[in-house]
Amino acid sequence: MTTLAPPGARGARALLFGYGAIALVMTQLPPLFPPNLPALHVPLWYLLALLACGTGALTARPAAHRRLTAGLCWVLLACTVVQAFVVADLIAMFCSWLVVPAMSLLAGRLPRRQHKALVAAHVVSSASWVGTAVTFVAMSVVALTTEDVHVAAVVYELMATFDTTLLPWANLATSLSGIALGLTTAWGLVTYHWVVTKLSISVAILVMAFGFLHDALESAGEQAARLAAAGGGPDGIDAAADVVFWGFGVALLSLVAALLLSLYKPGGRTRWGRRKRTAPGRPAIPVVVAETRTIAADTVALTLRSTGGGRLPGWEPGAHIDLVLPSGRVRQYSLCGDPAELDEYRVAVLREPAGRGGSAEIHQLRAGARLRIRGPRNHFPLETAPAHLFIAGGIGITPFLPMIRRLHADGAPWLLLYRGRSLRSMPFADALARQYPHNVRLAPADTTARPDLHRLLAEAPAGVGVYCCGPASLLDAVAGAMPPHGVLHTERFAAADRGDHRPDLPFDAELRRTGSTVHVPAGRTLLAAIHDVDPTLDASCEEGVCGSCITRVLAGAPDHRDSLLEAHERDRTDVIYPCVSRAHGGRIVLDI
Ligand code: FES
Repeated sequence: MTTLAPPGARGARALLFGYGAIALVMTQLPPLFPPNLPALHVPLWYLLALLACGTGALTARPAAHRRLTAGLCWVLLACTVVQAFVVADLIAMFCSWLVVPAMSLLAGRLPRRQHKALVAAHVVSSASWVGTAVTFVAMSVVALTTEDVHVAAVVYELMATFDTTLLPWANLATSLSGIALGLTTAWGLVTYHWVVTKLSISVAILVMAFGFLHDALESAGEQAARLAAAGGGPDGIDAAADVVFWGFGVALLSLVAALLLSLYKPGGRTRWGRRKRTAPGRPAIPVVVAETRTIAADTVALTLRSTGGGRLPGWEPGAHIDLVLPSGRVRQYSLCGDPAELDEYRVAVLREPAGRGGSAEIHQLRAGARLRIRGPRNHFPLETAPAHLFIAGGIGITPFLPMIRRLHADGAPWLLLYRGRSLRSMPFADALARQYPHNVRLAPADTTARPDLHRLLAEAPAGVGVYCCGPASLLDAVAGAMPPHGVLHTERFAAADRGDHRPDLPFDAELRRTGSTVHVPAGRTLLAAIHDVDPTLDASCEEGVCGSCITRVLAGAPDHRDSLLEAHERDRTDVIYPCVSRAHGGRIVLDI
């Protein structure tokens, strides 16, 4: 029996052990500034080292220890805050940047309520930080322009008080809640340009504050107090006053920029984010069928649980898994459950009499059957857009269920057009129509006319994200009706006929890690040639649809022939689906 450690446990462990090492070093070093409670300073560092290392060690244990680990993380965070703000050790404040990411990695995706609470904390702390920065700029203008040095002295004293009380809290709360939000959602920390920029702004302000702003403020305050006592004028204060004004001015503008970034989320994915979206799969996970249920004509829903009862890997709406069936067949199915519930996965499977036997085998499965799964992978993620239009054909509804749940929870605008042979054959149709009567349009072919796709798409708002999943005829119809003001995302059941039948030219593929080179003649696939040398490379559909065989390209130009990369991704040179794609230029180097 195997039990999975929580997703992200390895990263959390590294952070916690790193913290433990820092805490141990700090027991031997003198504090940067005299602490408020010297007697507590070293013992607390020892306690922090013990807590961090102990919690780190627990993360390697099975999921049964999750509550204990989470509890210890909270104790560690509380003790860190005490060391930082009560005992007053600056290093402890920076160590909270290790504890919160570790907690977030261990938590994974949060339940909706906790997520909303975190968003609220981030919004409130950001607003406090901006408000404090506005106040600082206003006060520095008063101090800079007043004729009365007593006023300047009082203003600088006030600013110095806020600088060591309100400001660090606002900065810390905003940064940490932002990091926690990033790590517990699909936004991540380095997946999107706008998140990276926001994080850089927070770090830059922190560096500026501790690098010179605090000293400049103290210096200006001391000079003003001295001049006030000696009967001098405010023009006796040196350039420190200008540094204070410009420093807080730049910080305020940066914070406003960060707020706008959160609002508009420009820039799309980073290079790493694009790679992660199509990252190779993880090893197979043993699961047990917990429940099978007929949910529509010829359609069965399976609930899958880890054989050890632990958590399954986290996923995002649009993800699919490979089901490795008892016969050895491998089939892909979209996850249609709730991404927040990681103790089980749900998939729905339509029996296809004309298929290759995979769906028929699944319909024979009963509760208790043991399978393996690979993934989840996500080639169909929910991207940010001003509005979303989902167009589903039959069983193509499945990837949209978690997307709809997510958008509905966020209060974002969306519409679903759901087409099928008849209501009886359309899984989840009744429930969707009941739950979202204003957003769902059912269009069973036996009782309703063919929907006017041109009109529907033309009326969609500018920038609309159009998501289509279903039979090829539906996908082709939607692609043909797409207006220029929308962005189309598709998921196919079968390979697309792109109508660009290029000749199969021979080429060589260097498998860098294996240290060998394979020749791929015309009429043979790159996947088959790789399997001669490395039969462990995953593959399933062998039609460029499932994404199982995704491989990193180190050099050379792929000739993409898959049905996974969208039109704007077809010039990518970092990835290839070798079951169908080939190489331009006679040679390609792969990370195999
Ligand atoms: S095996 Fe499915 S995409 Fe290559």
